[in-house]
Amino acid sequence: MGLVFEPSVPLSKIATSDTHGEDSPYFAGWKAYDEDPYDPIINPSGVIQMGLAENQVSFDLLENYLEEHPEASKWGNGISSFRENALFQDYHGLKTFRKAMASFMEQIRGGRTKFDSDRIVLTAGATAANELLTFILADPGDALLIPTPYYPGFDRDLRWRTGVNIIPVRCNSSNGFQITLQALEDAYAEAEAAKIRVRGIQLTNPSNPLGTAITRSVLEVILDFATRKNIHLISDEIYSGSVFSQPEFVSIAEIVEAQDCRSSSERVHIVYSLSKDLGLPGFRVGTIYSYNNEVVTTARRMSSFTLVSSQTQRMLASMLSDEEFTKNYIRTNRERLRKRYEYIIEELKAAGIECLQGNGGLFCWMNLGPLLEVPTREGEVKLWNLILNEVKLNISPGSSSHCSDAGWFRVCFANMNLQTLEVALRRINSFMQKRRGTSQGLS
Ligand SMILES: Cc1ncc(COP(=O)(O)O)c(C=O)c1O
Repeated sequence: MGLVFEPSVPLSKIATSDTHGEDSPYFAGWKAYDEDPYDPIINPSGVIQMGLAENQVSFDLLENYLEEHPEASKWGNGISSFRENALFQDYHGLKTFRKAMASFMEQIRGGRTKFDSDRIVLTAGATAANELLTFILADPGDALLIPTPYYPGFDRDLRWRTGVNIIPVRCNSSNGFQITLQALEDAYAEAEAAKIRVRGIQLTNPSNPLGTAITRSVLEVILDFATRKNIHLISDEIYSGSVFSQPEFVSIAEIVEAQDCRSSSERVHIVYSLSKDLGLPGFRVGTIYSYNNEVVTTARRMSSFTLVSSQTQRMLASMLSDEEFTKNYIRTNRERLRKRYEYIIEELKAAGIECLQGNGGLFCWMNLGPLLEVPTREGEVKLWNLILNEVKLNISPGSSSHCSDAGWFRVCFANMNLQTLEVALRRINSFMQKRRGTSQGLS
């Protein structure tokens, strides 16, 4: 029997809805890269992928650890250990791993907070953690408020299968995209006017795509707002280990601990994953940390759908409980990211491009607004297409992150080696020179 391409048998509403979010330039750019990937020898004129927030700058440290500690990735003492791994499927996860995760999360926050390993729920990455929390906190038709610009994957992760809406909290370049109380009130009022019940605010701290950490005072304002409206506050802190300069990263956990108030703590939930700080998205390791007992219990039950393999837990338990290794890893990884960031910002500046002042993340947020023919989403996508097809760089247009101002782009810098980054920057530089030549020729 041949393959049937036209689905004549009906599928579910979820399967056929378009809330998967994959029709944005963010995902289209990945496809363009897959079809023509840059390689210095085989395909030197191919597309360079700068739309993927991966961290490849510290793989050598992980590889060295595994070489020096072969027991971490081996079965251990003979057949019984293999059988233990093969059979283990408790949704609480390995206690040793939860403890190691809790202490790694504390270390990344400079030891300024405490995490109870019994409150850690393991999930297959932050993607699963975010969706799972949405399922627990909101019903279909309800909404989460999310400051813009935000991670394009949220359109899929928080909406597609849950039926929950996203209402943007509109931030813009006039104050460096800072979240203000007025923007929060406006978004809430917009939901009320549309008779949509708001269930929570979802933050990313430090922000993707801006690459800036949210300050303590802004976090306090947001938690106070959530408490006043009696809604949840979810803080996706997946990039917490990458903050390389002042202001220091402040976790919502610090604010909760300082306030020591049950009414505010019970609404706070933290999402974390090893995809960015350890550069292990393929291992699919994420967590939910909640201060709310019922949320912890329900999340643990629901995590049955997205468990982390016991083999992965065992290996990472060994690595993350080695404090000497984790201390050195966190310090070195931050230092390398800082160097990369400073390098790219300087080179972009020399090419005539300004970036937002960032201090965390695996990307920078650059302003190509002056290059737009028309200052609209269409103008931005046109420029994005030109950069993808002629300059052969995949960067992410701000509109895919629901940015209010046209002309901003996220540029990832940690998913490639330095030589490839140099080629990418040379391409940007010559593109800018040509643009200047053209505009001078026209004037
Ligand atoms: C803010 C944010 N949350 C979640 C994710 C997904 O992470 P994971 O690979 O752990 O599912 C990403 C990945 O880019 C992200 O930027």
